[in-house]
Order: sequence, then structure tokens, then C-alpha cells
Amino acid sequence: MKTVIIAERRKTIEKKCDTSKYENVEIIKQYGEKKLLDFLDILLQTKDDEGKGLSDADIRDEVDTFLFEGHDTTASGMSWARYNLVKYPEFQEKCRKEVMAVIGGKDNVEWNDLQKFPYLTKFIKESLRLYPPVVAVGRKLENPLTMRSKLFKSKDVVIPKNSNLIFSIFGLHRSENVWKNPTIFDPERFSKEECAQRDTYAYLPFSAGGRNCIGQNFAMNEMKTVLALTLKRYQLYLDEETPTPILHTRVILQSKDGIFVKIRPF
Ligand code: HEM
Repeated sequence: MKTVIIAERRKTIEKKCDTSKYENVEIIKQYGEKKLLDFLDILLQTKDDEGKGLSDADIRDEVDTFLFEGHDTTASGMSWARYNLVKYPEFQEKCRKEVMAVIGGKDNVEWNDLQKFPYLTKFIKESLRLYPPVVAVGRKLENPLTMRSKLFKSKDVVIPKNSNLIFSIFGLHRSENVWKNPTIFDPERFSKEECAQRDTYAYLPFSAGGRNCIGQNFAMNEMKTVLALTLKRYQLYLDEETPTPILHTRVILQSKDGIFVKIRPF
């Protein structure tokens, strides 16, 4: 986001009301025509315990994080899910059957419909396992970390304070130590029974802990909605003439030359 947009909005808010005196709801009243505070308004009014607000650069970082985390990730997740729908037509058929039973008679997905796609949900989760949009996360250690692993012959290894660690989600999701036949695509891995038998930390497309993904429910709902509407209207099939995607990682998991999927309307 351009800092000039941030500066202009800051001026508008300051002109319309003294933010130190008003709660959010008062600011809504002052704006008059504005019914809800948008993300930028909220950031502009955020203050720490000492009453210090965010600088324009801080705000720009937050907005960039949201745009990147909110757009590129789901774009990657949905692209790979479409690829898996064409690669595994039998699973596509199952997903479509479920979708038609829920939204066959209407043009959109309603809020309550989202819980009625258990198979599509399992399919998306399996797609996020083999093709996690965020392939790795990083952490800086505030304290030394003691680890014991088969990799270190089961001896304690101490990683010093201030070390920068990169943790591979892609590696975890394809590890034979964690998953049986990890390269086989099988949505049933996400049945209740299978999930109950697995370690909570075996599957981390949205990371874990204090800095995990705050948009994960939104992301799952977005992907379910878009894929359900696609499956309702179109059959997806493989473009035999285009190359198999070559995994390519920058920050997000992409395909080197794109992902080619053909569609025909029902
Ligand atoms: C398939 C879609 C998505 C995936 C796979 C994904 C994955 C992740 C991962 C792995 C992290 C943690 C990074 C870390 O631990 O360092 C993260 C953080 C974050 N995600 Fe997502 N994300 C997705 C969608 C979204 C959406 C739709 C939004 C917002 C609408 C969003 C907002 C964020 C934000 C703001 C953070 C930073 C949280 C923090 O640092 O406290 N994400 N995401």
C-alpha cells in the first residue's frame, strides 16, 4: 500500500475526530456515511500500552502482510487443488456429487452450506498437505532450545539463543517418519478416525503456536466456496499437451511454468 494513501486517511481521521477521546463506535458516528471501520482505520487507531500508535511504515508492513498472506496463499492453494482435481478424476467426481447435493439448486454458497462439504474439505486438506502454499516458516530463538531426535542419534542437542531456524512444512508433510506412503494423494487421511491417530503437529499448513495463521478459517471457507462453485458449473480435466507442473518455491509454492487445467461447462 502506498504510504500516501495511509497519510491521507490519517489526516481524514484526525480532521473528523480526536481519536484519543473517542472509542471506535464514536468514530463510526463521526464518519457518518461509513458503517464499518475498515482494516486501515483500525490500524490507524491502534495504540500500545503507552498510547503510542503505529507509524506509516508499520502500517504499510501490516497491510503488505495481509495482502500477501490473504491473496497469494489462497491463490496457490486453489491452483494446486484444481490440479489435484484433474489428476484424480475419481475424487473430483466425489467432490462434485457432494457439491450438487448441497448447492445443485442455487447459484451461490451460503454460510450454512460451508459445513456441508465434508468430502471437499478432506480433499482440500490433502491438497494442502502435498502442496502447502507456505512451504516453510522461520523463527528466531529467544532462548536456547534443547532437541532430541533420531537425526542426532537420540542425543540432546542444544541450539543456541538468537539462532535463526527455518522449519520446512513441505518436508514435514512428505516425511516418511510422519506419514504412511506420503506421496500418495488420499483425502481419507483427514477422516476423523485417521486424524485422531495422528500427532497434532504432523499437519501444519497454517503453522502453529502464537504466530500461526489468523486467516485459516477464512482461507478454508474461501477455497471451499470457489471450488464448490467451479465444480458445480464445470468439469475439470487434464491438458495432455502441457507439461506436468514443476514445483517452484519462492515464498509461496508455485509451478515453474504454470498449472494448466482445462474446463468444460456441464
Ligand atoms: C491457504 C491459505 C493460507 C495458508 C496456507 C496460510 C499459511 C500461513 C502460515 C504458515 C502462517 C504462519 C507464518 C509463521 O508461522 O511464521 C500464516 C500467517 C499469517 N496469515 Fe495465513 N495462510 C493462508 C491464508 C491467509 C488469509 C486468507 C489471511 C488473511 C485474510 C491470512 C493472514 C495471515 C496473517 C496476518 C499471518 C501473520 C500472523 C502473525 O504473524 O501473527 N492468511 N499464514
